[in-house]
Amino acid sequence: MRDLAKQLVMLVLVAALCLTGCGKKEDTSSTAKWTIGMSQCNLGEPWRVQMNADVRNAADQHDDIKVIFKDAQNDTLKQRSQMEEFISAGVDLIIVSPKEAVPLTPVVAQAYQKGIPVIVLDRRVLGEKYTCFIGADNKKIGKAAGQWIVEKLGGKGTVIELKGLMTSTPGQDRHTGFREGIKGANLEIIFEADMKWLEPNARKEMESALARFETIDLVYAHNDPGAHGAYLAAKAAGREKEIMFVGIDALSQEGRAYVAQGVLAASFEYPTGGKKAIEAALEILNGQTVEKEIVLDSRVFTEENINDGGELLGQ
Ligand code: FRU
Repeated sequence: MRDLAKQLVMLVLVAALCLTGCGKKEDTSSTAKWTIGMSQCNLGEPWRVQMNADVRNAADQHDDIKVIFKDAQNDTLKQRSQMEEFISAGVDLIIVSPKEAVPLTPVVAQAYQKGIPVIVLDRRVLGEKYTCFIGADNKKIGKAAGQWIVEKLGGKGTVIELKGLMTSTPGQDRHTGFREGIKGANLEIIFEADMKWLEPNARKEMESALARFETIDLVYAHNDPGAHGAYLAAKAAGREKEIMFVGIDALSQEGRAYVAQGVLAASFEYPTGGKKAIEAALEILNGQTVEKEIVLDSRVFTEENINDGGELLGQ
């Protein structure tokens, strides 16, 4: 009887070991030749969870690299110290998606000057002290969104702009691009606010806008969580049918699904670049040079083209 109990305990132990150890290739992999530090500014939005998954999936194809992930939880100071930890640990390469441009610039430069290659992903830092930047062209996306909106509204109407964090470069570029795209049209921007990329902020800002304005034709939000937050506020006020909502990101499980459901009129794709970052990392680690600037393509998804895979943005 006691033997049986012992055997059972062993069996449970082996099963537990297997469950914890037989999962995905873990950071403890001993065959890896290089360690990559991945500094993610936050994992609050589905888009960033997707970025990490894209990095992980690409890295899992290569036994010679292992990736250590750090999540700064939307805290710039935390991201700075996590970057410093990567530097002092002597990782072989850093991929960083910085929360804000100015405060993260010095630590990126510090790593780069110490000889650690740095791939800056999606949001930029200032200056040139990094190895390579990977991301889609946010100005182009903003401009295309502006032009699409002008056409959709027949050249006139009242519009709300819900901006992404304006200390981050995608927020700045999606704003200037948009203003360029609507230039000359008879659109009135009746309300604008920095919702800092966050759905609850967008919802709150939209509540104020709804209270102030009787006619709102369209909301342009710098990301899909923002557009969705605005939609929820309008829905709660019973006004969602009279307003169009446009966002950016177009994840299949988020923006594209909203377009398919008729919640968003359009979503512009912002690819995470996770896979590309691992490809570039491998080239750098193998001694090859990569372009300083790798620009990713973007597509627009609307009710008309969603079932055909969207449409590529032109040059
Ligand atoms: C997620 C996010 C995305 C957006 C990107 C811009 O944190 O806000 O929705 O496209 O960051 O850097």
